[in-house]
Amino acid sequence: MKRRDWLSGAGALALPAWVRHASAADTPRFSLGLASGQPRPDGMVLWTRLTGPGLPDSVPVQWELAHDEGFTQIAARGVELAQTETAHSVHAEPGGLAAGRPWWYRFTALGDRSRAGRTRTAPDPGAEATLRFAIASCQRWEYGHYAAWRDITASEPDLIVFLGDYIYEYPLLANDPVRPISGGLVTTLDGYRDRYAQYRADPLLQAAHACAPWVMVWDDHEVENDYAAGVGGGLLGHSLGALLGDFGRRRAAAYQAYWEHMPFPKSARPTGDAMRIYGHLDWGRLARIQLLDNRQYRDPQVCPRPGRLVGSHTVSLKDCPALLDPRRSLLGAAQERWLAQNWSLDRPWNLVAQQTLMSRLSWTDPAQEPTYWTDGWDGYAPSRQRLLSAAAQRQVPGLVVLGGDVHAHYVSELKTSYDDPRSPVVGAEFCGTSISSRGPAQSRLDAALPLNPHLLYGNARHRGSVLFRLDARTLQADLRAVDRPREADSAVRSAARFVVEAGRPGPQRA
Ligand SMILES: [Fe+2]
Repeated sequence: MKRRDWLSGAGALALPAWVRHASAADTPRFSLGLASGQPRPDGMVLWTRLTGPGLPDSVPVQWELAHDEGFTQIAARGVELAQTETAHSVHAEPGGLAAGRPWWYRFTALGDRSRAGRTRTAPDPGAEATLRFAIASCQRWEYGHYAAWRDITASEPDLIVFLGDYIYEYPLLANDPVRPISGGLVTTLDGYRDRYAQYRADPLLQAAHACAPWVMVWDDHEVENDYAAGVGGGLLGHSLGALLGDFGRRRAAAYQAYWEHMPFPKSARPTGDAMRIYGHLDWGRLARIQLLDNRQYRDPQVCPRPGRLVGSHTVSLKDCPALLDPRRSLLGAAQERWLAQNWSLDRPWNLVAQQTLMSRLSWTDPAQEPTYWTDGWDGYAPSRQRLLSAAAQRQVPGLVVLGGDVHAHYVSELKTSYDDPRSPVVGAEFCGTSISSRGPAQSRLDAALPLNPHLLYGNARHRGSVLFRLDARTLQADLRAVDRPREADSAVRSAARFVVEAGRPGPQRA
């Protein structure tokens, strides 16, 4: 017998009798899988949520973190209480670990043991490092299967960066849904919990959570389409009074369920309808990853649709001069100030993980009369200008913005002025289409791209992701496209490849 087999055999025998006993009862307690996130040089967060009938109000859950896949060498273990008031979720936080290496973890509760997950510690802040990572967003359940997740898992990333729209709050509206969604329009804590549980039942999504640590930000659909800070998006066209009255409670319920289902630390647990998700993660001497929140603190969209009091619209600048009001912000004043001071000037790369397309996208000829979508950065152009000008002024190295939300792949040059063709390129942007949510018509993009020459690539035909490889000299981006989004076993291939070289802002075709 090999040493490893012998040790794991001995480990199994060493389990308390009740564990072996109850395993035979076979009530699956880990049917939502497990997850890890927020990797630091000395630890990370390990997540699960207990399921099944007859859960007591408070259940001890053992966790183990091992050096190896066979769990022959345990590095840390502990017990967390899974409780009714937080949906029996577990947020374990091992510390004191060695930096920059993989770890394996698993949970045991009520006689059931979870599968094993793989995670990582971030490299030591002073260490040379490389990073393989994926960006993903927008995984509307009823619109497709998750072949894009299978492709991400197969790439064996060090880190997965999720950019929002993890769930959609809608009832089943789709014509010709790929699979049913239950529960109607989600507005309550129980409703959000059920919606997360439904998404988390997907085996390809579970595998993606089990293969690497995640960092994540939310967008609007984790609460409600088009919401802006304290104002709901008003899907059903409520009066403003009704929206304002109910929305705080709805946002609090949504944020609570979001925290319960994601590998955030206990310290991030929301208080009322506030949860801080912006912050940063350092990956050795290689990169700082800024995580932004452009929903919780934004000013409401200007110039909503006729007959509506709130929400997004596509408007010409002539009809909506408020688009250029410098008092409005997408991030809120505090987050804008924080970001302006938080760039890493001694690392070659500054990655910005945020929700939506940052580059200007005018749907009509901007030399005649520009037309903008008010929910994205174009609805808050002075806020974008402040961010990019501050970064340019401080000569922030390797600025790369990562986005989602718009359900199309975009690759673009970031500029401090899109009106002046001589304005220098200050960074690169990659927008990562959607895991499964349907995209806009390609004909619209084909008409708009020539009007926006800083957009080097725009493709709404495919669901997918972007896979990146980063070292001190080069960022390689592989735009991944799902062939048949209605099928979980669809092939996934590269639609295009770009690179960014350190010291030379902006993307180039590979
Ligand atoms: Fe979306």
